[in-house]
Amino acid sequence: MDFKSKIRVIEGFPKEGISFKDVTTLLSDGEAYQAAIKACLEMLEGINYDVVVGPEARGFLIGAPLAVMAQKGFVPIRKPGKLPYETIKHEYFLEYGSDVLEVHKDAIKPGDKVLVVDDLLATGGTAKAVCELIEKLGGEVVGLAFLMELDFLDGRKVLDGYKVLSAINYES
Ligand code: PRP
Ligand code: MG
Repeated sequence: MDFKSKIRVIEGFPKEGISFKDVTTLLSDGEAYQAAIKACLEMLEGINYDVVVGPEARGFLIGAPLAVMAQKGFVPIRKPGKLPYETIKHEYFLEYGSDVLEVHKDAIKPGDKVLVVDDLLATGGTAKAVCELIEKLGGEVVGLAFLMELDFLDGRKVLDGYKVLSAINYES
């Protein structure tokens, strides 16, 4: 399937110069959504993982259906103050300001083989923060899978040493 034809591109959102890849148009098309999740699963063939971890919010939209289809558990990574049990936090720095992500401290067990899933790899800041949280809990990140990757932002460099896979690549 030509996934790019299903993803709407909005120029100048959220600010001038950004060409925003709007995945909602793919998600609202049942056939395209299922095909996208299957394409992600296919690229993961040969990777052995125990659990899928995805960051709020768009990571849930790809990670959770992928986990269900793979018959794996899903662990949500959330923005602060949303998870009810004891958590560990990781602060990470963006171009402007910083952000915090949290995970339940018992959600990942030492030695768990973890697959990280998100909709988009851009600068890699979010994915790197997710990896830090998993590793703080003793999990092993065996791979990262993205539906889309913005090649020109070089997020892969930030994730050097990890196995990084993406189903759709954008050169601009
Ligand atoms: C978007 C996207 C990825 C992240 C990629 O999430 O869903 O998680 O940015 O960017 P990066 O590689 O530069 O970190 P966003 O923080 O906008 O929040 P959302 O998923 O809640 O919409
Ligand atoms: Mg996100």
